[in-house]
Amino acid sequence: MHADAHQLSHMTVITVDGLSKTFDMHVLGDTQVTGLSDVSFDVREGEFLAVVGESGSGKSSLLKCLYRTYDPTEGRIVYHGADGERREAVDLASCDDRTVIRLRDEAIGYTSQFLDEIPRVPAVDVVARPLREQGLSTDEAREQARDLLERLHLPEELWEAYPATFSGGERQRVNLAQALAPKPDLLLLDEPTSALDPETRQAAIDLLREYLDDGTTVVGVFHNTAVIEAVADRVVVLGNGALQGIVPIEAYEGAVVG
Ligand SMILES: Nc1ncnc2c1ncn2[C@@H]1O[C@H](COP(=O)(O)OP(=O)(O)O)[C@@H](O)[C@H]1O
Ligand SMILES: [Mg+2]
Repeated sequence: MHADAHQLSHMTVITVDGLSKTFDMHVLGDTQVTGLSDVSFDVREGEFLAVVGESGSGKSSLLKCLYRTYDPTEGRIVYHGADGERREAVDLASCDDRTVIRLRDEAIGYTSQFLDEIPRVPAVDVVARPLREQGLSTDEAREQARDLLERLHLPEELWEAYPATFSGGERQRVNLAQALAPKPDLLLLDEPTSALDPETRQAAIDLLREYLDDGTTVVGVFHNTAVIEAVADRVVVLGNGALQGIVPIEAYEGAVVG
């Protein structure tokens, strides 16, 4: 059931306006592939916005544009900042790389659908790193990292091991813990629970709920209808790279999950 625990703000965190992403496929004789086509919507402060659509509908492209892993081809992604520290709006589609890096450090977290290359660093230190960068001592950072890994059911004997040797589900926990650790204002999650068993998925949902209660805004791609119904406020439905609709969770039927 959707617990209406947090009050939805009317403040807008992000305005996506006419966002398009096309890929030039030189190997295919200079044809173009559409990732996103003229997508517009707002993200409200403190909301959990789920993104759904069939495979290839542009969900990952959307999150990668928001995180500026992809340079959008057209459109604007205006980041208005978190409440209390409202700075001048930044267009994530066109701002310089230094601004992107600063916002990633200070405000925006991301987990990719496919696990990135994992450094030869013990799991606990992968998670502790962003905390140390925020100024915590190594001991404090590792303590918080261990708490998160425990909450996400990573077996204790793996905390000091290298994630390179982990299963998909174990790596996913490290990935999610790393994104959650610095408590970003905005979390972009691309299928962060796809490889988790039901019990661990529930633990991840409980953790995400606590973040929502603290005011974190989440834009997340989820396959699992139960997860969406448990946490989402609104659902963005994509099809062929285009926006098919934005559905409040009360009206969401779970029909278009791909
Ligand atoms: N880096 C890329 N290069 C070329 N085509 C891409 C790239 N990323 C995504 N696409 C294409 O964009 C479309 C949307 O993909 P994606 O955003 O990954 O969809 P989803 O996450 O919904 O499965 C697909 O046709 C896909 O092949
Ligand atoms: Mg995807």
